[in-house]
Amino acid sequence: MNRNFALEFIRVTEAAAIASARMMGRGDEKAADHVAVEAMRAALNSIDFSGTVRIGEGERDEAPMLYIGEKVGTGGTVNLDLALDPLEGTTICAQGGPNSLSVIAIAEEGKFLHAPDVYMQKIAVGPEAAGVIDLDATAAVNLKNIAKAKQCEVSDLTVVILDRPRHADLVREVREAGARIWMIGDGDVQAAIAAGMPNTGIDVLMGIGGAPEGVIAAAALRCIGGDFQGRLIFHKPEQRVRAKAMGISDPDKKFLIHELASGHVMFCATGVTDGSMLKGVKFSGHRALTHSLVMRSQTGTLRFVETQHNLDRKSI
Ligand code: FBP
Repeated sequence: MNRNFALEFIRVTEAAAIASARMMGRGDEKAADHVAVEAMRAALNSIDFSGTVRIGEGERDEAPMLYIGEKVGTGGTVNLDLALDPLEGTTICAQGGPNSLSVIAIAEEGKFLHAPDVYMQKIAVGPEAAGVIDLDATAAVNLKNIAKAKQCEVSDLTVVILDRPRHADLVREVREAGARIWMIGDGDVQAAIAAGMPNTGIDVLMGIGGAPEGVIAAAALRCIGGDFQGRLIFHKPEQRVRAKAMGISDPDKKFLIHELASGHVMFCATGVTDGSMLKGVKFSGHRALTHSLVMRSQTGTLRFVETQHNLDRKSI
């Protein structure tokens, strides 16, 4: 994949982040999501490529979205697949909380898991613990293996878990194993990436979140050298049928990181609200300041980009 696409796709997450950041704290999740989707779609449609949305967020919670299967770009000769979430953490943005992002992952054709917007059971770690996790093992066994790989005690580990009733058993198990828990209200893409980065204080993400967010996180962790496993969770029989129709022969399969995002992948994120990894959008007069991250699996380069946008000369 041409590395020059990095700048093109940063423009995409920047546009979605600026649009949704204007809605920060307004208490209107749908509106924040809507403007992010429209800005992302417009920015994608200005890039000289033929893109297909392979997996995206929106069906699950009936939110505005770029449709799975939607074609974007000007129709150029380069065919790329996209996994995206124009506003990851809609509730966070609507409430003016930390760590909402605009994210997109890009791969060559056919390299992302093509699945409906359902839930996914996930485990994500950084490079030191790559290869030692197993979604089928208990939390206690995973924590023991992660601690061994990181040469620390289980009690030193911090596990991020989405604060949801469905995680009551997982929380109990992690507590019994002796690890620390960082409970988050939303935003497990950011949490998975934090598990993959040094010095974030996060060692592992566990639990059930969105499947698109899982594929996006897997792409990000491919760039960092971390590890990720996921299994689709279906709440309705028709979702399972749809997954099969989309080419997933075994909907209950445990997907390894390379089965979620293979080949050369690129990941871009722009902070919407201030977060531990990326600063949120700041508006000052007719300018907007954005903070983004772009990374590629081929080189493992993490590039942080700070951009000043002159809003008098371009409309977002
Ligand atoms: P949104 O972008 O839809 O707000 O998703 C936020 C999020 O917390 C994701 O990070 C997570 O994967 C998913 O929602 C969990 O879904 P649910 O809120 O239904 O438990």
